[in-house]
Amino acid sequence: MVKIGNIELGEFPLLLAPMEDVSDPPFRAVCKENGADLMYTEFISSEGLIRDAAKSKQKLDIFEYERPIGIQLFGSDIEHMRQSAEIASEVKPDLIDINYGCPVKNVACRGAGAALLQDIPRMVGMTAAVIGATRLPVTVKTRLGWDDRTRNVEEVAERLQDIGVAALTVHGRTRVQMYKGQADWELIGRIKDNPRIHIPVFGNGDVNTPERALEWKTRYGVDGIMIGRASIGNPWIFNEIKEFVRTGQPAAPPDMMERVAVVKKHLDFSIRWKGERTGILEMRRHYTNYFRGLPDFKSFRMKLVTLTSTQEIHSVLDEICGFYETTRAQVA
Ligand SMILES: Cc1cc2nc3c(=O)[nH]c(=O)nc-3n(C[C@H](O)[C@H](O)[C@H](O)COP(=O)(O)O)c2cc1C
Repeated sequence: MVKIGNIELGEFPLLLAPMEDVSDPPFRAVCKENGADLMYTEFISSEGLIRDAAKSKQKLDIFEYERPIGIQLFGSDIEHMRQSAEIASEVKPDLIDINYGCPVKNVACRGAGAALLQDIPRMVGMTAAVIGATRLPVTVKTRLGWDDRTRNVEEVAERLQDIGVAALTVHGRTRVQMYKGQADWELIGRIKDNPRIHIPVFGNGDVNTPERALEWKTRYGVDGIMIGRASIGNPWIFNEIKEFVRTGQPAAPPDMMERVAVVKKHLDFSIRWKGERTGILEMRRHYTNYFRGLPDFKSFRMKLVTLTSTQEIHSVLDEICGFYETTRAQVA
């Protein structure tokens, strides 16, 4: 049984990665229904929380059925990180996660996210401040290091465990790599091989099929896997991996009815949560992913990304269902 503090996560948990503009409550709802064992909010700026910025506050919205759920924070100022951990704890998530992995310029070049990988004493100080500010377990998500010359995550793992971090997720790339090349899980495996490390270590990066999940689970011995991009438009991946790990057999892919039902659920939740206009607008980025690979999809897509009424979009989704149900065998 993998545990973070007192949170029991099963034998081999699958985590939904924090993803800005993706892993909001509507998306999390469909991932939860399809097997995600632990989920995180999008990252939340500590500065934004302290300033009471609407965008940051909205990201604190969590729901009972989502448990266990973690709130992810990022920032460059230790005192502000401490305060934001207090604010985040008030909404009673199951844990607080700190982002030491974000590579994008206006985060990492302002001393937050992956920038902390260049200054381990500061990272340790910031983490200790967050741990001191909350009674919740604190986890960390990071990368292998800043660049190829400083792949220091093994040291990071020991130092963070020593001050009380409850679990670690490692994305198998350096900051300099951004999202390029293939994730390298060798170092993640080495953290697991370190007899001093007893906290759960989750591997992250490029797991996009059940076969790969099982292969890397076996090869690198991680306690669980965090999945990001492969879940976008494909929340079924969590249960598909579970089925494959359990039986060695691939699960049947979702048929068109199920696919459309999940899209509608995602859309309806978006509208409920964000209002009709924003809900419809922000859902547009998901359609291509949900219907990837369908032949002759262009005209349907055009409608989905231009229509502005919920009812009309539902009708198009029904049309898609009818049109492709019969061609499913070819598509799959
Ligand atoms: C659109 C997008 C947004 C992301 N936002 C965050 C974030 O808010 N916090 C974070 O720790 N990582 C973020 N990431 C990184 C992912 O959590 C994950 O580490 C990365 O995508 C590698 O995993 P994958 O190959 O399974 O996608 C983001 C990634 C993407 C693609």
